[in-house]
Amino acid sequence: MYDPDRKNFTILVVDDEMVIRDVLEDFLSSEGFNVVTVSNGQLALEELEEEHYDALLSDLMMPTMTGIELIEEVNRRGYEIVTIIMTGYGTIETAVQAMKIGAFDYILKPFKMEEVLQVLKRCFERQALQQENINLKETLNIYKISETIASSRNVHEILSEILQASLDEMDADYIALQTFEEFSIPDLFEERFKLESLRGAFSLNLPEMRAALASSGSIIAEGLEINKYITLTQAELVPVSLMATTLRVSNITLGFLTALSFSKKTHFREGHRKFLSILGTKAASSLENFRLIDELKEANRELTEANQAIQENFRQTILGFARAIEQNDPYTRGHSDRVAQYSRMIAENLDLGDQFVEDITFAGQLHDIGKIGISPQKLNKAGKLNAPEIRMFRRHPEMGKRILEPIPFMRHLIPGVYCHHEKYDGTGYPQGLKEEEIPLMGRIIAVADTYDAMTSDRSYRKALSFDVALDELKRNSGTQFDPDMVVAFLGAIGKRKSL
Ligand SMILES: [Fe+2]
Repeated sequence: MYDPDRKNFTILVVDDEMVIRDVLEDFLSSEGFNVVTVSNGQLALEELEEEHYDALLSDLMMPTMTGIELIEEVNRRGYEIVTIIMTGYGTIETAVQAMKIGAFDYILKPFKMEEVLQVLKRCFERQALQQENINLKETLNIYKISETIASSRNVHEILSEILQASLDEMDADYIALQTFEEFSIPDLFEERFKLESLRGAFSLNLPEMRAALASSGSIIAEGLEINKYITLTQAELVPVSLMATTLRVSNITLGFLTALSFSKKTHFREGHRKFLSILGTKAASSLENFRLIDELKEANRELTEANQAIQENFRQTILGFARAIEQNDPYTRGHSDRVAQYSRMIAENLDLGDQFVEDITFAGQLHDIGKIGISPQKLNKAGKLNAPEIRMFRRHPEMGKRILEPIPFMRHLIPGVYCHHEKYDGTGYPQGLKEEEIPLMGRIIAVADTYDAMTSDRSYRKALSFDVALDELKRNSGTQFDPDMVVAFLGAIGKRKSL
């Protein structure tokens, strides 16, 4: 624990006798300590205000301020220092009094140098133990904070937790978290004040801090040195201690965490730096996680867009095939588009919803896609088809189904393509379904398809008039067609005519 080679302990010696001061300075310096001597309590307090000391070795009886008064003042100011009293008038009473108010030990004058060394060794050993206790306490707090972070879902909640914990644990007056502009959460700057009155009283010189952090990874500044990093707007405010540490994860510096103290009792030290650094790492990994999630969301969005573009492209390609089938045949040109239009009218008349209307329109356009393998000459030959030709022709719903099956985003259109030649009385093909067994899309397209076929010229006959075609639909309602679909189509046509 006590190891003068590892750390240069600093000792402030206060004694009004110059001989004592000189002897102690010479001896303790030769033992590896850093020693500063002053002649009275007031000077000791001034020295403590400027510098941090590990131990205070003070005479008890001095003019202007006694050793007891000095210890009381040191206690009041909250300096982290171990005090040892030296007295030439040592009695048990004065020793007890000194110990009662917090002195670590006392030394009776005249003393042997070896005794002083023993007391100091014990003193620093105790300090090391105290430091370990502080570390344990901090570890526990970090653990608690980690628990809270683990259960948080929101990046602001996590950062808020980290900032508040830093403020409390470091006994700081101000904590700020700044991320760099290239970081994907834009303009992230969060701050916490111990006292609301400090808000607006100063600002951080962020570029200056960033430059210093880039070279060292952390900043510990005291007194006037702090002025480099902050700009005060309230002149009476005196900064005491400043500490900053970078937020790093996987070798990327995301930003930094800054702690500032205006209180004389809070000087940031190595222990604080470790604490801030651990919290900084926590903050950095939270930010990084959220950044990755954001990137993932962005990638996903791009993928969805690309997917939509591919789907649209594919849709157009399939539609192109459907149109190509009709292209070389004057009799069927435009048939699919008209079937789509009539199917849409029926679906709208039945209030089947926007999505269904879109789907039935597309299914109408594709309903004969299965004819892609049949030669145009055979499709539209004049006169009757022979038996093998009929068999081949009747395979087109099945072919259409097989064309659409491998395409996930078109699968829901299959009922319209596969079932548009089913008849309501069960005499249709390919499955011979009847009534409600026939999917709605099939029942709708059956009406639309037949109506357009009747009202278009074909190679084997002339177009029927609209009225005759409508009469034909009515006549076959309940046998070939679903009566509800016929009524809906007549209604839709009626509306259109009345416009
Ligand atoms: Fe067909």
